[in-house]
Amino acid sequence: MQLPSVITIDGPAAAGKSTLGYLLAQRLGYTYFDTGVLYRAITCLALRRGTSPDDEEALTKLAQTAQLQVLPPTVADGRQYTVLANDIDITSGLREVTVDRNVSTISSYPAVRTALREQQRRIGAQGQVVMVGRDIGTVVMPKADLKVFLHASVEARAARRHADVLERGEALPSVTVEADLVRRDALDASNTFRPQDALVLDTDHLTPEQEIEAILQHIETRLWGPTHRVER
Ligand code: DC
Repeated sequence: MQLPSVITIDGPAAAGKSTLGYLLAQRLGYTYFDTGVLYRAITCLALRRGTSPDDEEALTKLAQTAQLQVLPPTVADGRQYTVLANDIDITSGLREVTVDRNVSTISSYPAVRTALREQQRRIGAQGQVVMVGRDIGTVVMPKADLKVFLHASVEARAARRHADVLERGEALPSVTVEADLVRRDALDASNTFRPQDALVLDTDHLTPEQEIEAILQHIETRLWGPTHRVER
């Protein structure tokens, strides 16, 4: 059974993209690539170096010159991947609250996006990949074989993000998490696109397993035609 080689999953923050993308990639034996980690890596590097998130020129240079690598997990601590920046493992810093608060500003700079898109396309071109992000099905890989867009309410997304924050041992009230999310939504809006030909899933009422089932059914019945069965 032939499967789509490039699968894109786009959607707003905390819509459940990474959980679904990771599980789907595992199920299909594909590479999982969360493109947001590149924007997070640049943000993390900038904060560690004391570069202001408002310094667009310095951030552009950083995005153009930093050696970023996204690898399968090198440490068994529950991570989905390992990210190296100039050969240093920065994976644990990527989800810090300060990175969360600044990454939308940094990812809004057009030249930063151009530099990081090149890296995303290189990995996408290798095929057998599930790519997760905001503009993957429209701008980065517009010819992808299968495009998925996740929709979820602000309340469900804030609850999901708050659970992540608590799990990391950070003490932030849920109202602060929701306010941060709404602020980031506004900044990310101009770079988050729903492909016209996407399978749209509302994740408020679906478990990741149900989402995977819906995707496999879509592949069988809509993408390739009813005679195909995907190996379950
Ligand atoms: O999905 P995330 O929260 O890890 O994304 C981090 C930031 O990167 C967020 O501000 C949106 C941005 N991003 C983007 O603009 N384009 C992508 N393809 C992926 C992420």
